Amino acid sequence: MPMNIDADLPYSDIDETLGERLWPNEPALAGEIARAIEGFLRTKYQPGHARRDAHPKAHGIVKAEFRVSADIPDELAKGVFAARKSYEAWIRFSNGLLDDDRDGDGRGMAIKLLNVPGQKLVESEPNATTQDFILFSSPVFFIDKPQNYLALVTETGSANFWSKVSEAFTLGVKGSLIAAKLNSNIISNPLQTTYWSAVPYQLGIGSERQAVKYKVTPTSDVIDPLPADRGPDYLRAALGATLANGGATMTFRLQPRTLDTQSVEDSMNEWKEQDAPFYEVATIHIPSQTFDTPEQNQFAEDIAFSPWHALPEHRPLGVTNRLRKIIYEHVSRVRHEMNAVEYTEP
Ligand code: HEM
Repeated sequence: MPMNIDADLPYSDIDETLGERLWPNEPALAGEIARAIEGFLRTKYQPGHARRDAHPKAHGIVKAEFRVSADIPDELAKGVFAARKSYEAWIRFSNGLLDDDRDGDGRGMAIKLLNVPGQKLVESEPNATTQDFILFSSPVFFIDKPQNYLALVTETGSANFWSKVSEAFTLGVKGSLIAAKLNSNIISNPLQTTYWSAVPYQLGIGSERQAVKYKVTPTSDVIDPLPADRGPDYLRAALGATLANGGATMTFRLQPRTLDTQSVEDSMNEWKEQDAPFYEVATIHIPSQTFDTPEQNQFAEDIAFSPWHALPEHRPLGVTNRLRKIIYEHVSRVRHEMNAVEYTEP
């Protein structure tokens, strides 16, 4: 029995000043995509065993400290960056779609800051004390129109999603090239990879607000060679080996929009670094730890990330993020309901 979507999930307003524009029929399309994904989950998984529709395979969820830099410029010191302090965080590293790490795939990094005061945008838990930043291994997303996303999910079903994604007639040539690049990504260690938000976010509120994108890079240039005898879970093993031996640091950067041609709506529009530099605003310290326990792996399954688990100072922008407001909330509710998990933000 599909869950009701519309009752308690209002569609997002748009900010025309920052360049947002609504697509025709967009809220209805968001609901249709969410319902289509719900259908796949209910068909594919037995109750008690539902996984995420995207990024189902975690390499691990790890404890981290998100240390906001002391010397960031005032115009970037907004939201969680205003206090110039440290936050405890959970970080879930994942594949895009596949269960075998040896295959080319997008790679995800979902960060959840804890003990962040202030009312949040998500209506279901406005008093949650979390702030999420969701990134993956491409500077751009491969879909710009809501009807193309719906066409992909309804024509193919999740099982064939990625093979369909590389077909030019559904995504257009540009989208297909982005998808092909993303899906051929092979890495040796989730801590030695660069991640982007791909889509933009507001920074600040009121007349000083601006649009930014995010990027996380490893602090060290060292990239381990691919293990010769790697198995389907070698990325979990690599994460475990690094975190057994002294931990890792990564750098979180903001990229303020500098040109009108840098679109807030078009998820395929890359904001070139030569036009819009990134500024370092935080260091992510991931200490030495043991994360690969049954309890923590279950936590990696149950936890839910959303761009809308956010302060108004970090409001998600653009059509992809507006769709995600409905889709992530609905799909994670379905997942938790199927698994009889009563989820609340940590
Ligand atoms: C309309 C576009 C998109 C749709 C429909 C979509 C759909 C989804 C869904 C259904 C989930 C699982 C949610 C859950 O069960 O809790 C998910 C997770 C995720 N998505 Fe997206 N997504 C979209 C765009 C993006 C973009 C642009 C990024 C780039 C950063 C992204 C990165 C991720 C990551 C990293 C996760 C895993 C989060 C975790 O670890 O739990 N997605 N997505």
